[in-house]
Amino acid sequence: MIERQDFKKNVQPILDWIDFYFQNIENLPVKSQVKPKEIYDEIPTTAPKTAEEWQVILNDLTDTILPGITHWQHPNYHAYFTANSSIESLYGEFITSAIAAQCMIWETSPAAAELEERMMDWFKDLMNIPREWEGTIQDTASTSTLVAILTAREWKTDFKSNEYGVPNNLRVYCSTQTHSSIEKGVKIAGMGSRNVVKIDVDEHFAMRVDLLEKAIEEDLANDKIPTCVVVALGTTGTVAMDPLKEVAALCQRHQIWLHIDAAFVGSAFILPEYHHFLEGIELSDSFTFNPHKWLFTNFDCSIYMVKNADLLINTFEILPEYLKTKTRGQVNDYRDWGIQLGRRFRALKLWFVFRGMGVEAMQEKLRFHIQLNTTFADFIQNSKDFELILPPFLCFSCFRFKPKNESNLDSLNKLNEEFLQMLNQRGKVFLSHTKINGQYVLRMVIAQTYVEEKHLEIAINELREVAQLIANKS
Ligand SMILES: Cc1ncc(COP(=O)(O)O)c(C=O)c1O
Repeated sequence: MIERQDFKKNVQPILDWIDFYFQNIENLPVKSQVKPKEIYDEIPTTAPKTAEEWQVILNDLTDTILPGITHWQHPNYHAYFTANSSIESLYGEFITSAIAAQCMIWETSPAAAELEERMMDWFKDLMNIPREWEGTIQDTASTSTLVAILTAREWKTDFKSNEYGVPNNLRVYCSTQTHSSIEKGVKIAGMGSRNVVKIDVDEHFAMRVDLLEKAIEEDLANDKIPTCVVVALGTTGTVAMDPLKEVAALCQRHQIWLHIDAAFVGSAFILPEYHHFLEGIELSDSFTFNPHKWLFTNFDCSIYMVKNADLLINTFEILPEYLKTKTRGQVNDYRDWGIQLGRRFRALKLWFVFRGMGVEAMQEKLRFHIQLNTTFADFIQNSKDFELILPPFLCFSCFRFKPKNESNLDSLNKLNEEFLQMLNQRGKVFLSHTKINGQYVLRMVIAQTYVEEKHLEIAINELREVAQLIANKS
């Protein structure tokens, strides 16, 4: 057991290990190659009775744990959406762990509450979000969306669902492309997944407002209560943008809660050239995005903003005697702004990122990712072996392997599945896939904090080589 005064004496091997990791990350396979239970079987079946040497523990970390890690901070991580981080964020997280404050209410760490409040001001300013909005940091976008759905439920039922239970006719609308967290949120909120109305999308995979309007009107005619619409700014599969402004006007007309899920794309809204995507936010009710996806702040950090924080607090507030304080009403007690009581001091790492990098460098990095993606899409477009499936958007491209002599859908799907498996097994890059109109397609996300042009070249070479290997086989 290490005494606190001996922290510095013992920390060097840990710092050395982290440094070793960063120096070697690019030589490790991006996607872990282990088989199920391989790691589990290597870990002793019982806990050690006495302390072990740090060097022994760190050796096991290298030999046993590291092979089972998929390296989300590898510059050639291009799968799903990134969960990027930065050294600045790591420093913040390090100190957060040292302080290890539990920030449930203002009095349990006033600085945590007030720094969180100020971070929200910074985002509002950078993203051009109306000043009267207020916000908080949740763990994930799934939680933020659940919080929005619960607040919508209470607002629409005059705060009676919390007291008496949930009616079974509260409807929630989203497109067929939106993230599974919406249906999950509705289930957890006790509203019933059958009350999720999935609205069809247009040729750009964006929600069709005419169909949304029709669904709402049909529901109204059938004694259903339209409660919440979730628009996606950046769907998970294809990064499609729902038409916020039009949906917002419709929600206003029908008094429906409008929640904006911009989990991944939201980071781009610190760039003035993308502010137009948030037109309509003034008519909306809540908004979430994850700095832990594309804003250099390590998991977990999800921003949740609301137009009317009173509705949020009325939904979650419970005041047992032991939590009554004299400062209530003057300060933000964030345990009333979400689900859990205990809260981590997440604002610190954001503050470190903002101050350690500066907004201009953050903006520059986002723009660089977008520029790299344009270069990548140009390569795909000009290649005889691949085809772009969607126009490149921000740091995202969607494409597939398409040899000249192959046009059968099933064969192409199989070929692309095989292509992706071979590509990822080689360990130099990691991409993921989705299906679009029955086509198995590959997704390329270029959003890792430390990605450089040379990494894009590695990715392009890998694509070329795997295409050649497959061609040689046939
Ligand atoms: C559009 C969208 N919404 C929500 C989520 C869920 O995010 P989280 O993992 O923070 O819950 C994701 C995850 O990728 C997403 O793409």
